[in-house]
Amino acid sequence: MLSTLRIENSPFNEQQLKQLQSSIGDLNPAQSQWLSGYLAGRLADPLPAPGAEQILSEASLTIIYATETGNAEGIAKRMAAGLEHQGTRSELHAMGDFRPTALRKLKNVVFIISTHGEGDPPDEALDLFEYLDSERAPALPELNYRVLALGDQSYTKFCEAGRQLDEKLQNLGARSFGERVECDVDYESDANEYTEEVLQYVKENLDTDNQAVEASAPGPSHLSLVPTESRWTRAQPFGAEVGQVQKITGTDSDKDIYHLEILLDDPDMLYEAGDSLGVWASNDPQLVDSILIALQIGPSEIVNFNDEDMTVSHAVTEHLEITRLSMDTVLAYAQAGHQGQLEAHFSGLDAEQQKAFIEQRQLADLVEAYPVQIPGQTLVEILRPLAPRSYSIASSQKAVAEEAHLTVATLNSNATGTIRQGVASSFLNQRLKPGESVRVFLEPNRRFRLPEDTQAPIIMIAAGTGIAPFRAFMQELEESRSDRDSWLIFGNPHLRTDFLYQREWLRWRDTGLLNRIDTAWSRDQAEKRYVQDVVKEQAALIDEWLQRGAHIYLCGSLQMGQAVLDALSEALSVQREIEPEKAATLLTQLRRDKRIKKDLY
Ligand SMILES: Cc1cc2nc3c(=O)[nH]c(=O)nc-3n(C[C@H](O)[C@H](O)[C@H](O)COP(=O)(O)OP(=O)(O)OC[C@H]3O[C@@H](n4cnc5c(N)ncnc54)[C@H](O)[C@@H]3O)c2cc1C
Ligand SMILES: NC(=O)c1ccc[n+]([C@@H]2O[C@H](COP(=O)([O-])OP(=O)(O)OC[C@H]3O[C@@H](n4cnc5c(N)ncnc54)[C@H](OP(=O)(O)O)[C@@H]3O)[C@@H](O)[C@H]2O)c1
Ligand SMILES: Cc1cc2nc3c(=O)[nH]c(=O)nc-3n(C[C@H](O)[C@H](O)[C@H](O)COP(=O)(O)O)c2cc1C
Repeated sequence: MLSTLRIENSPFNEQQLKQLQSSIGDLNPAQSQWLSGYLAGRLADPLPAPGAEQILSEASLTIIYATETGNAEGIAKRMAAGLEHQGTRSELHAMGDFRPTALRKLKNVVFIISTHGEGDPPDEALDLFEYLDSERAPALPELNYRVLALGDQSYTKFCEAGRQLDEKLQNLGARSFGERVECDVDYESDANEYTEEVLQYVKENLDTDNQAVEASAPGPSHLSLVPTESRWTRAQPFGAEVGQVQKITGTDSDKDIYHLEILLDDPDMLYEAGDSLGVWASNDPQLVDSILIALQIGPSEIVNFNDEDMTVSHAVTEHLEITRLSMDTVLAYAQAGHQGQLEAHFSGLDAEQQKAFIEQRQLADLVEAYPVQIPGQTLVEILRPLAPRSYSIASSQKAVAEEAHLTVATLNSNATGTIRQGVASSFLNQRLKPGESVRVFLEPNRRFRLPEDTQAPIIMIAAGTGIAPFRAFMQELEESRSDRDSWLIFGNPHLRTDFLYQREWLRWRDTGLLNRIDTAWSRDQAEKRYVQDVVKEQAALIDEWLQRGAHIYLCGSLQMGQAVLDALSEALSVQREIEPEKAATLLTQLRRDKRIKKDLY
């Protein structure tokens, strides 16, 4: 069918036809079906194509979202679908694709924004934040808006970006049509309630031409204005079979890192290199038992969770967060158990110390150090609902078809003298067995994709499990027979035990698919050596690649990411003989141009 397409009988030129034939010629039926749905959605996608003029029309409401891991985007799309369903004209924009100067033309806006880093806005919000703080920012007395902020209570700067955005808009005279709502990691019910309130508000106050919209309502062949999402979501995850769980660090390594293969045999589970997989884990039953024993709660005591009766043991194992504390949990635990000593100690700490207290302890540590006696129902009420964890996908579907590979480090900490593990990483690496099922959903990451320009070189900088998406990139390049230049800079403790996927990387280098590898083995010598040291040493070559249009990708811990950005800035300053401030501005510009892309955690 595709081979019969010619310039004469299609709207494509010769080069486009070649590209089409090489990229979609060998898709299987499920992939073709998905692609046709995707293109239909894209046709009708209200997000403008890059460079296209934005419509900013007569819409009753504009929704602008800023996201890093996709949650804000999902809520925004569902809100837009709700508005469409009630016959309201709305527009949906990613903040990164939105021209800040267009804000003055808008009348009614909902902003949905998450917080990342340590209280920072998502990268795509940088331009708008800077604009609102600048002298160019206009007065906005005509703007009627409301903010939905996403965050995580275990961070001290909870929902900071949403708070800041709200404050900036207020300072410019904009009027809020409702309170800002701040959501914790279990954001679904708060976000749904907020969406309902917005829909109601629009219906009652803004929807003056609702009738007209309804009168011209499209027939059945009309394509939805809201891009379709996968059938499988965070709230309705896919039950995937686990294929392989294999340790990939050496037996005497300080790290416990596993390679997992998960079967996504469903046409709605298609991903791109750079995307992540959301995983719902359950707590270690032995840890739950020990906590219940210490609290003198019988495991079969019946409690109510989310309007459902169940045993307390089941509620804690499957539904509640016991490995990550929050300030509210610590205080509620102390108050419910009349633990005056804990309450006094915790309240007496400053913000930094409270942060450290929370990060270094799990519920089991509280129970041990500050024993209390509370009923099962009280325990259920003071704990936060268990949230899913994200893992970068380490494979390309072009290479592994229906599988998704993950690279997972077991999170071990012994800050209080007892070894404690992270819930999801230990569930995946230790409790889950091949053949068993795990609840997963895709988290598309459109900010961390290979460059559209097939010739643009890429520099991939990773520490530890940060290597995962780069394995996916290389598989993608290999399958598409790319001749793009690529360079890996990788760091981990020891060469002998911790060179993740070593054979594959060396093969890619030997075949020439990968142009260069540099490594930083942090513990192979007396002084620590990190990836940022390689960046500084290779300043000249990095600058040369940048001059050739290279895109730089960073993946791994937040601390590593910040240190590498600083090193890049220093490298540019030295190499181009410019002031550090000028180099920092250059770097910010590269981030804005989406040539520096981060996937940090
Ligand atoms: C987009 C994205 C992609 C990711 N990709 C990967 C990946 O490919 N591989 C991978 O292994 N991980 C990845 N992560 C991290 C992963 O999502 C989990 O955070 C990690 O596995 C720990 O989860 P856990 O449930 O095991 O630990 P938790 O139960 O969440 O934490 C256990 C304990 O460790 C402490 N803790 C947790 N994280 C930190 C931290 N960063 N610093 C200090 N203390 C901490 C907590 O306070 C708690 O006491 C990614 C995260 C994101 C956001
Ligand atoms: N609990 C914690 O304190 C903590 C800290 C970081 C990451 N994590 C979590 O651990 C998981 C992944 O761990 P991982 O083993 O893949 O990676 P990792 O702990 O980040 O370690 C990978 C490599 O990065 C080095 N490194 C440490 N600090 C660095 C810095 N500031 N700049 C550059 N490199 C640095 C490490 O060196 P050395 O270890 O030899 O110093 C190691 O060689 C993630 O889930 C992450 O969220 C937890
Ligand atoms: C690396 C990282 C850093 C985060 N930092 C914060 C923070 O400082 N404050 C906060 O309230 N939430 C923080 N969060 C939580 C996110 O805001 C929360 O997961 C949110 O639902 C993400 O929404 P998004 O997917 O739209 O980006 C952080 C999450 C990650 C992964």
